[in-house]
Amino acid sequence: MALAPSESLEWSLTVPSVQELAIQKLDKVPLRYVRDDLGQTTPSNPSLRVPLIDMNKLVNPEFREKELQKLRFACQEWGVFQIINHGVLDESLSKMRQQVQEFFDLPLQEKKRWAQKPGSLEGYGQAFVTSEEQKLEWNDMIFLKTLPLQDRSLNFWPENPQEFRKTLESYSEDMRNVAVSIVRFITMGLGLEAQKFGDTYKEGMYQIRMNCYPPCPEPERVIGLNPHADISGITLLLECGDMPGLQVLKDEHWVNVEPVNGAMVVNLGHVMEIISNGNYKAPDHRAVVNNSKQRLSIVTFCYPNSSVDIGPAEKLIKPGSPPVYKTLTNAEYFHSFNNRKLEDSFIDSLKI
Ligand code: OGA
Ligand code: NI
Repeated sequence: MALAPSESLEWSLTVPSVQELAIQKLDKVPLRYVRDDLGQTTPSNPSLRVPLIDMNKLVNPEFREKELQKLRFACQEWGVFQIINHGVLDESLSKMRQQVQEFFDLPLQEKKRWAQKPGSLEGYGQAFVTSEEQKLEWNDMIFLKTLPLQDRSLNFWPENPQEFRKTLESYSEDMRNVAVSIVRFITMGLGLEAQKFGDTYKEGMYQIRMNCYPPCPEPERVIGLNPHADISGITLLLECGDMPGLQVLKDEHWVNVEPVNGAMVVNLGHVMEIISNGNYKAPDHRAVVNNSKQRLSIVTFCYPNSSVDIGPAEKLIKPGSPPVYKTLTNAEYFHSFNNRKLEDSFIDSLKI
């Protein structure tokens, strides 16, 4: 492939930048991206919408019970919903979107100053590619650990655009506040000690993945991001524009998550599925692409404090309702994930 960088360090499997491919205005996508195995990317029911939760109603005693019921339904039936009135200032969100846009707009060589290094997932690049046969996703990204402070590897944090670091820092604090608050309500919906569970996200772990999906000449033949469920507690997704791309699997059908002005998307990850003892499910989701416009998304993976064990909440375990999942330390949880068999389902491997 013409664009594979020749200075590929010791990393044998360098993947071309999809943005660079898109600039070439090819009329066909290279074979490594062709995914004719995936079937239709257009949802069978395009008018179906994920639930919308108003956080102002959750904090208002007058409306709380009704909104909590909606939230509980959203967590049980969808595992994903959109939130409005989340409390983050519009200017903070716009600033973050703008910095991410400016970063991806930089020339390739400049972006590569913060490229992934062998053995680490952090930095600018593409998904981890382990074989020449592996099909590739139509996506460039930069992935950074932002909290706790000691997890930061600043050598992967862009210094261009100039305000990127500062903006990312303050954005991750905003996301932490949203996570603490929404986790309280999610666990309240399960009848759990909401304050206690919310508090575990105060000093939680936060990782941010910024995705760039360039326009694609054959969008229905590629995938932006393969179907997966997140392993986080919850994930907060911010759209940078109004171009849809995120899809979530609901009752075996893919549903578009349409961007809503001022809203953020919340989806549950495996940690929350485990805490809820399977009452709530981490949904499969994926990203599709289009042929007209680049789409950017900013995705924050939120985890409880690493000193907290990951297992079904004690209150949910009773006669007739045994634990469905094992309880693991945080380290054991990540160890299991990193050493999972690729062909096996991760969440199933944690079942008792
Ligand atoms: C992710 C993810 C979806 C999107 O990064 O885990 O699901 O629309 N992203 O970017
Ligand atoms: Ni995801």
